[in-house]
Amino acid sequence: MIESLASVFRPGLLNGQVALVTGGGTGIGLGISELLAELGAHVVIASRKADNVERAVQGIVARGQSASAVTLDVRNADQVKQVVQDIAQRLGRIDVLVNNAAGNFYAPSATLSPNAWKSVVEIDLYGTFHCSQAVYPVMAGQGGGRIISTSMTLHYRGWPLMAHATAAKAGVDALTRTLAVEWAPERIRMNAIAPGPIPTEGVKKAFTPPAESGVPDLFAAAEEKMAEYARTGIPLGRWGTPRDIANMVAFLASPAGDWITGAIFVVDGGEWLSKGGR
Ligand code: HXC
Repeated sequence: MIESLASVFRPGLLNGQVALVTGGGTGIGLGISELLAELGAHVVIASRKADNVERAVQGIVARGQSASAVTLDVRNADQVKQVVQDIAQRLGRIDVLVNNAAGNFYAPSATLSPNAWKSVVEIDLYGTFHCSQAVYPVMAGQGGGRIISTSMTLHYRGWPLMAHATAAKAGVDALTRTLAVEWAPERIRMNAIAPGPIPTEGVKKAFTPPAESGVPDLFAAAEEKMAEYARTGIPLGRWGTPRDIANMVAFLASPAGDWITGAIFVVDGGEWLSKGGR
């Protein structure tokens, strides 16, 4: 999923840093893991699926960069705490946490099961809190750190069939602002990124609406339809890539992000502003 090894950031920018990326084995998370490793960080890639993290780590290590794998379900607070303690013990520090793990699917709210609601809210919102809370003592103890969470733009307006994910991501935005203020004295910067449409396999799967719903199917469309949407629906004229999001993560993780906290950065080629997110 790497677009180019050339980076706009200077080589060695994150040398000596340790970054933990949840959901870092595929899609946008993989793009983030790859760029942070390219810039010199040791990246701990975490996911529920061992295959995905192992493959991602192998790719990074094959390029002479540094990464390791952990299996982790962000819904399990005790497991998160244990994994974070193990990383801190093994590597001595955690400079960057990227809360990227997410679950999502289109489903009518009228019939959404309690467990389906719980699954998405627990991954997206509880998972972000569990991981942030777990790294807090490590970051506070070392004099600071950067937490960067993944939000979305769909909750800026109504987005049918996605009550669970939009409610959870609105919670992520609130958490970002609150923890930014609460943890600023410890020099922990807390920011979020709201990505626009990035056609990774996971997003395509999650964003295939039921046929009868009337919700536009942006991702499963034929190639020429996707090209047309990029031309007409995204002001900057192209679909996003994992590297677009990774670049913002790298900026926030770098010294350039030193005076930034509590901010939510929309990185979407202007899409939601021009369409209200549709
Ligand atoms: C209705 C569904 C469903 C669907 C699952 N469920 N899929 N209900 N429609 N399509 C219900 C199940 O029936 C079950 O409820 C409950 O959800 C939990 O399902 P499980 O499969 O048992 O859970 P689990 O294995 O933990 O899987 C979690 C998941 C899954 C969220 C359901 O989709 C997942 O792991 N996703 C991770 C990957 C992912 O979604 N990535 C895309 C993120 S894209 P019952 O009642 O039957 O027990 C994204 C992009 C944002 O976030 C930006 C956009 C611009």
